[in-house]
Amino acid sequence: MNELTKGAQLIPNGMLDDNYPRNMWWCAAHVDEVTDKPLARWLLEKPVVMYRKADGTPVALDNRCPHRWAPLSEGRVIDDQLVCPYHGMEFGADGVCTRVPTQKMIPKTARVQSYPMREAGRFLWIWMGDPDKIDHDPVDMGYQTNPDWSVVTAYMEVDANWVLIRENVLDLTHIAFLHAKTFKQGDWENPAEVSMEGETIVYRQDFEPSPLSPLFCAGFGFPDGKIVKREQEGRMPSLAVSFSDWNVHDIDAVPGERADYLVRGAHIVTPGKRGETHYFFAAAFDVPDVSDEVLEQTKANILGAFNEDKDLLQKIQALVSQDPRGLEFPEINLGADGAGVRVRQILKRKLDAERSA
Ligand code: FES
Ligand SMILES: [Fe+2]
Repeated sequence: MNELTKGAQLIPNGMLDDNYPRNMWWCAAHVDEVTDKPLARWLLEKPVVMYRKADGTPVALDNRCPHRWAPLSEGRVIDDQLVCPYHGMEFGADGVCTRVPTQKMIPKTARVQSYPMREAGRFLWIWMGDPDKIDHDPVDMGYQTNPDWSVVTAYMEVDANWVLIRENVLDLTHIAFLHAKTFKQGDWENPAEVSMEGETIVYRQDFEPSPLSPLFCAGFGFPDGKIVKREQEGRMPSLAVSFSDWNVHDIDAVPGERADYLVRGAHIVTPGKRGETHYFFAAAFDVPDVSDEVLEQTKANILGAFNEDKDLLQKIQALVSQDPRGLEFPEINLGADGAGVRVRQILKRKLDAERSA
């Protein structure tokens, strides 16, 4: 480490190596992605196969047959068993082999790792660390299945370390610049106030009346350019997920009519292969029955904006990977990095705890 970076709060273990805790819930998929057909996905640098049993229970196994290493995801699910595509060995939801077509004796070692899964909101969560250390549930996302809300979900793969996305979504001041043509919300002139509520990072900031981003007007039934007061509030209850709330106050509301609205973004990141991140996303309006057409348009607009993040974060990752100086380069923190710096502190604590356990 050179003089300029000494003492700075670098991303723990950098952004080129493995830098994620195992003993926590990470998002594995949207709930409707996992069916009775096997789904392959790299999670925490491991090939995983997921499917559902007939009763709907989600299953996650190592996606590598212990016989000759065929990807089990190329096989089929029959009677809740995953059948290897190569020589037909069958594995149950616990990963234990239940049948070898060519012999009666099943080798004791014929098993694959199985991982606990839970459902929360519109997503499925996986625990890939020590199952004896499960001491909490995935973050509550009940609003995503509440009919009083209208929800749209999306996904993108980003070729960058997960921490880059995690920090990006906790510092909305970039919206005024990187998303000047999409979010069109240019009034981020001051850093948000950042605090901790237990282990949860919280940021908040009030804005004077200004036109609401066109990304969200239609969802509330507002005309484009609608002038509103905003309170931006975000929380990160887990390294895997953060919420960003746009609390919107209609300053022209007729007395007695509804004046306060909320659109909540859920930003969910999961390390995939080395240097790749799954980015799951949900935008939810606290308005029931927003039309599919408006939700689809909102989703397309959000993806357009998030592709701006993706493009830039991938360029940052490539720059650091290819520059021989790598992480040995000055990095400064600004006042607006309060939440991001806390992410690094929490991450460091968790990594240190797992490594010393
Ligand atoms: S590789 Fe799976 S049964 Fe042979
Ligand atoms: Fe962004």
